[in-house]
Amino acid sequence: MKTTSSGIQFSTPYEIAVVRPLRQTTLDEREEALKAAYYNTELIPQEMIYVDLKTDSGVSSLSAAQLSKLVGAGPLESGMEMAAEGSRAFISFSEQFQKLFGFPYVVPVTQGRAAERIWAKLHVKGGMLVPGNMLFPSTRFHIESNGGKIVDVISANAHDLYSEQLFKGNIDLNKLETVFKEEGEQVGCVYVELCVNSCGGHPVSLRNLKAAKTMAVARQVPLFIDGCRILENSYLIKQREPGYQSRSIREIVYETCSLADGLTMSALKDLLVPAGGLIATRDAGKYQQARVQSFLNGSQPPSTAMEAMSVALGEIFSGDAYVTARVEQVNYLWRRLKGGTPILAPPGGHAVFLDVKSFLPHVAPDHYAAEALAAFIYHVSGVRVTKGPPLAPSQSGRGVELLRLAVPARRYLQAHMDEVADAVLYAFSHRAEIKGLKKVEQPGRSKYEPSLFTPV
Ligand code: F0G
Repeated sequence: MKTTSSGIQFSTPYEIAVVRPLRQTTLDEREEALKAAYYNTELIPQEMIYVDLKTDSGVSSLSAAQLSKLVGAGPLESGMEMAAEGSRAFISFSEQFQKLFGFPYVVPVTQGRAAERIWAKLHVKGGMLVPGNMLFPSTRFHIESNGGKIVDVISANAHDLYSEQLFKGNIDLNKLETVFKEEGEQVGCVYVELCVNSCGGHPVSLRNLKAAKTMAVARQVPLFIDGCRILENSYLIKQREPGYQSRSIREIVYETCSLADGLTMSALKDLLVPAGGLIATRDAGKYQQARVQSFLNGSQPPSTAMEAMSVALGEIFSGDAYVTARVEQVNYLWRRLKGGTPILAPPGGHAVFLDVKSFLPHVAPDHYAAEALAAFIYHVSGVRVTKGPPLAPSQSGRGVELLRLAVPARRYLQAHMDEVADAVLYAFSHRAEIKGLKKVEQPGRSKYEPSLFTPV
């Protein structure tokens, strides 16, 4: 609890209602688990993990009110099907979403990638260029599989792992202008991811988004947002962007959305649900098409999932306390590691990222330093970290290697964050012991299967 000029500042706006035991394994048990998982931390069974920082997606803690919706404690109704207006859960979710995000139309779906699949089918045509800021792999996939081509126009700062620039997710407006000038006819839309996941969870400023929107309007192309982490982005705007300190998160979210023609969103992150996503639009025709497409794709969420998202919206936007606690917990872990280990700067909204090359400069490039470091951290502590989603081509081209410590919302205590920090700091002080891994090839194993390793 801190005291400020306006009174006491509380830390955490919830208490624990239900708990799940965590197994505290021995060093020998973890060694066995690592061997059985071929040193790939992704393959370690959940019951052998102490603190799991593999992802922040779909693994946040439910509130008591969400839980009662998910068990169907109220009257159970079927999903939206074709008569969406008949669904009480849909009506209530869309009314709440419209009020908070300002889009007149929303189509709830099962996941973020389901939203992207429908969005891309409605908006991307063969040969179309889509300038974006290091878009997420599933977004890339759907744009490219509809014949579109992505041009990465993220600011150069995003590639400088240690630059303290505050909005490293920003679009490079000069690069965007060049794309418009040179290939204007081909540009179909601009797509902006908030709190860019691939490069450190770095935010996009409203000033930058406004400038990109002005350029898109001048060229008469729409601007779309990947809003998975719009809350963290809004919190970092409030902290860092001049003029926004006295604005509420709710106002910043609304203003961000006012700049977009449409939005896709995985609800597994900021809306604190194990399943759900959405497409928002201002276009009645696209709304109708998206609804039919979602019905045909089988991506309509059950009514209980829509109700759980509605509850989350109420909880998240009842004040700024929730998002403050969420981002400040990530910030706490970042501060514990800063100075003691090579981590990306400045802190992002949902995760802390380790720069593996600087952590383990002695490990040969073909000895899987990131996987070896993750295996070492697991071995000494039971903490699971992984590489996270695949890097963008512009990152792999630069030889970047990252490990992501993604913090699930509302799930872990400060004591857990301390243990994570201790484990990573221990790994850094014992880094000479980490020699690397080599790949185990098994005949007939598909390249899409997770890799298997053995120590060098
Ligand atoms: N966009 C971003 C920025 C994401 O981080 C993700 C998922 C998606 C879209 C796709 O959403 O999983 O609901 O289909 N990110 C997860 C992660 C997988 O671990 O970062 P989804």
